[in-house]
Amino acid sequence: MLVGSVVGMTAPYRVVAVSGSLHEPSKTTALVRAIAEAVAERADVEFELIELTEIGPSLAGALRRDQLPASVEEKLVAIETADLLIVGSPVYRASFTGLFKHLFDFVGQYELVGKPVLLAATGGGERHALMIEHQLRPLFSFFQALTLPLGVYASDTDFDGYVISADVLRSRIDLAAERALPLVGYAASRPTETLLVS
Ligand SMILES: Cc1cc2nc3c(=O)[nH]c(=O)nc-3n(C[C@H](O)[C@H](O)[C@H](O)COP(=O)(O)O)c2cc1C
Repeated sequence: MLVGSVVGMTAPYRVVAVSGSLHEPSKTTALVRAIAEAVAERADVEFELIELTEIGPSLAGALRRDQLPASVEEKLVAIETADLLIVGSPVYRASFTGLFKHLFDFVGQYELVGKPVLLAATGGGERHALMIEHQLRPLFSFFQALTLPLGVYASDTDFDGYVISADVLRSRIDLAAERALPLVGYAASRPTETLLVS
């Protein structure tokens, strides 16, 4: 668990990060972890990391949610009940990975309404940085989620192996966390009934 503290907060925020990487170790997992840590430095959080490398094999064979094992169903509930979602995927063929999409195909259509979602991606180079805007953001707009304005993209040169090495990326992560928290607080303080309008 990552824990920070904010005076006056009554309950920790439930922060759930999803890494769409199919590899371990993974730059994407390192990135979403770093974003979660930056959030935890600024707020009291309970953190859960969901990795496709762990749930992918049991997820891939399911065609309907009721075919998923309980362990994956628990992850879906964690996604649906998070106060802040941090979603990251490596760029594969100019989009997120197929398994990342398969996971979100099982999320309830109205379960992410108004939920803050921080978008992140890694790619081999800079050319596909707009995958965040052209692929990830429309997916979460479909869910009527509150996609946060600042996404975080990283390429191979931002890492030393699987460790973030670029100061400019670290600054971007810090800025994304700072910008996220007021919106997380706003979303968490709203009654859910007002969100359930299709
Ligand atoms: C099948 C496959 C397709 C890829 N397609 C792209 C691509 O279209 N654009 C890009 O910038 N990088 C592409 N890459 C590179 C990965 O996005 C990049 O190495 C990423 O950081 C890997 O993340 P990971 O360590 O979390 O798995 C591809 C890699 C693989 C294996």
